[in-house]
Amino acid sequence: MSTPLNTPAASGFTVRALGPTMGVEITGLDAAVAQADTTIAWLRALLQEHSVICLRGQTLTEEQQIAFSRQWGPLEDFPEEDKTQNAATIYNVSNVSAQGEQLPESDHRVIFQKVNARWHTDSSYRYVPSYASLLYGIEVLPPEVKDGRTGFSNMFMAYDALPAALKARLQPLHMVHYYEFGRRLFPELPPVSRHEREHVPPVSHPLVRVHPDRGFRRSLFMTANAGNEISGLSLADGQALHRELVEHIGRPEFCHFHRWQTGDLVIWDNRAVLHKAEAYEMGRYRRVLRRTTLAGDGPVLGPYSLPG
Ligand code: OGA
Ligand code: MN
Repeated sequence: MSTPLNTPAASGFTVRALGPTMGVEITGLDAAVAQADTTIAWLRALLQEHSVICLRGQTLTEEQQIAFSRQWGPLEDFPEEDKTQNAATIYNVSNVSAQGEQLPESDHRVIFQKVNARWHTDSSYRYVPSYASLLYGIEVLPPEVKDGRTGFSNMFMAYDALPAALKARLQPLHMVHYYEFGRRLFPELPPVSRHEREHVPPVSHPLVRVHPDRGFRRSLFMTANAGNEISGLSLADGQALHRELVEHIGRPEFCHFHRWQTGDLVIWDNRAVLHKAEAYEMGRYRRVLRRTTLAGDGPVLGPYSLPG
């Protein structure tokens, strides 16, 4: 691994790789206190290079998580009224109610977690999708239980591994992303509210994302939880192509699965990786995670979006 692994001088942080495909783990950094600007800049560089960062051993109130996240930049707030309890910038990923009771599997707050079980990138249903997410592990599955992990798939690797003919086919295509797709997957969910519908109408983004801040490298930019239609193809052809890509991005050589420890704050780059919640026995184990989400700084650029 290259330079960003060097920790800021005398910081006391320890950094090591999370796994062979991507990610680093940091111990000794307390996200509950204000960070030096140089530390945030170093973390940003790490995220840019490694796509996933796990800060171990955190103890964070909502306010502290928001304050740490705001040091990185502006936060998104959520149209999903039922997933935010206090601050609109907090998104609860939990099968436990605000009162601490485990919810039945039929509860729509639990069903929402199943929407997250498909590969996706956060807020891709917005015209400006998210830059990064910070997910904090409050209650996680006991160590002897192997599931309930969060999977990550590296979209640079996935793109690079495509056959040249498929890359050429994808180059002009866009994918339709929409928040309401979760209702197609799980019609038993209550309908989206007017506020939600107006806040996040369907958008399309280039399927091949070009990254000006990474030397114009290309990645796949897609979702399996906020759509399955490809603009410019027939519904059947688009869905067939989408299925093929979903299969491709799940290949183990692009993936890392994070096994949660209590107190992990996992940060991922939504522009570079997809993620998903791995299934677990939802009626049996409590799993309480809390997310803040950093806003992106512009629309997704594709191969034809660039000047010149
Ligand atoms: C999320 C998400 C995955 C998980 O919080 O955005 O997709 O493992 N979570 O709960
Ligand atoms: Mn997500």
